[in-house]
Amino acid sequence: LTLGVDTSTQSCKALLVDADDGHVVEARQVPHPDGTEVDPGAWLTAVDEATAGLLDRADAVAVAGQQHGMVALDADDVPVRDALLWNDTRSAGAARDLVEEMGGPQACADVLGSVLVASFTSSKLRWLRDHEPEAAARVARVLLPHDHVSRHLAAPGTEPFTDRGDASGTGYFSTVTDDWRPDLVEQALGHGVALPRVVAPGGVAGEARTGAVLAGGTGDNMGAALGMALAPGDVLVSVGTSGVASAVSATRVTDGSGVVTGFADATGGFLPMVTTLNAAGILDLQARWLGVDHDGLAELAMSSSPGAGGVTLLPYYGGERSPNRPDAAGTWTGLSPSTTRADLARAAYEALLCSLADAVDRLVAATGEQPRRVLMVGGATRSAALQALAPAILGVPVTLPPPSEYVALGAARQAAWALGGTAEPPQWPAAGTTVLEAAPTPEVREAYAGLRDRTDSWTHTHPAPEGT
Ligand code: XUL
Repeated sequence: LTLGVDTSTQSCKALLVDADDGHVVEARQVPHPDGTEVDPGAWLTAVDEATAGLLDRADAVAVAGQQHGMVALDADDVPVRDALLWNDTRSAGAARDLVEEMGGPQACADVLGSVLVASFTSSKLRWLRDHEPEAAARVARVLLPHDHVSRHLAAPGTEPFTDRGDASGTGYFSTVTDDWRPDLVEQALGHGVALPRVVAPGGVAGEARTGAVLAGGTGDNMGAALGMALAPGDVLVSVGTSGVASAVSATRVTDGSGVVTGFADATGGFLPMVTTLNAAGILDLQARWLGVDHDGLAELAMSSSPGAGGVTLLPYYGGERSPNRPDAAGTWTGLSPSTTRADLARAAYEALLCSLADAVDRLVAATGEQPRRVLMVGGATRSAALQALAPAILGVPVTLPPPSEYVALGAARQAAWALGGTAEPPQWPAAGTTVLEAAPTPEVREAYAGLRDRTDSWTHTHPAPEGT
């Protein structure tokens, strides 16, 4: 048996899996605290609860986790402050400063594979130096969320470790040399720190406290790619707290526009990706505002028509990253006395799907690889409206894999890989999929393209507020 853990933004999930065929034996989920800055100790309590009675049955274990989060530890390995998560945008100004210091966006992408934005760990370290210098001065070690949780499960004395996939989201790991750039941490924070060792794809990091084989773990997106056994030509759209379009690629991507992040993956290749900050939360908010549950929201949306009666929405409620508008807020347009609650519900789905469709387009443009298949995963894909509207707005059939915790499954597969010691990850039988089809509605995306053009110029005419 292998145990896969997903220490995600919202919860800790644990899957106990049969190492031979990937069959899920037992699944658990324990919530995490809300917010974009969180006590990393809360993740350790959650993982203990989620893995109780499972860890001691596992022959191997691995942890995948939310990318980028800054876990800054002092010389006694105590956090100097709460972790700043990937979706905390206070570090946007710090990211801009670091990009400039590195010689501009393309120079930055050439080294890191990505242009730094607020999400990246190094931007958060620079923010810490600028805003909390006393805490910054005490930082002796920096870990990512998955590193921190892996270390907690490891046998005492295990040297902290990470993998190249999650490391490639720090802003101080070179996808050219496949190694740390300690000088870039120093540049961000003002002094050097201890960094975790980087475990090779499929490698053994050490032993868990139960004696089980411990694999290197990875970032959640890399974990999902492994869990779904993504193949070249597959584009994966994930609708979670963030919206992500990603694809596996044998070649490095260095998109100087910053829209596509050229991450490394967990198998030795790359995982170019477009990430939006606002995804499933758009539907959560809309359901709350309309006073309905998710089924009610879907029902309302389907009783409106394509184009939502002229209502459009830029859903940048939490600021946005693709496009990079950390200071933006949500913007509704086209409201009139004839607007109905159904139109408002419909606009929320259309806004979400147009943003995901843009993400897919940008990914395809950067990799030059036409998708053979678009797969969609995430809790929001259970929505009848999302299932009906996704193929219409994306303009292609959409493949829905059966619901599963793919990040935790990917971690379990990585653990099985480390356990088996083989050159490639184990092949597990693929689960049956559903293919959704619908007549395309290009007019919806056209309306959104126009909206974005107009609001982009609004954003540029207003200086960014202080302190961002
Ligand atoms: C990717 C990103 C998010 C988080 C979500 O760059 O920031 O997808 O990994 O957990």
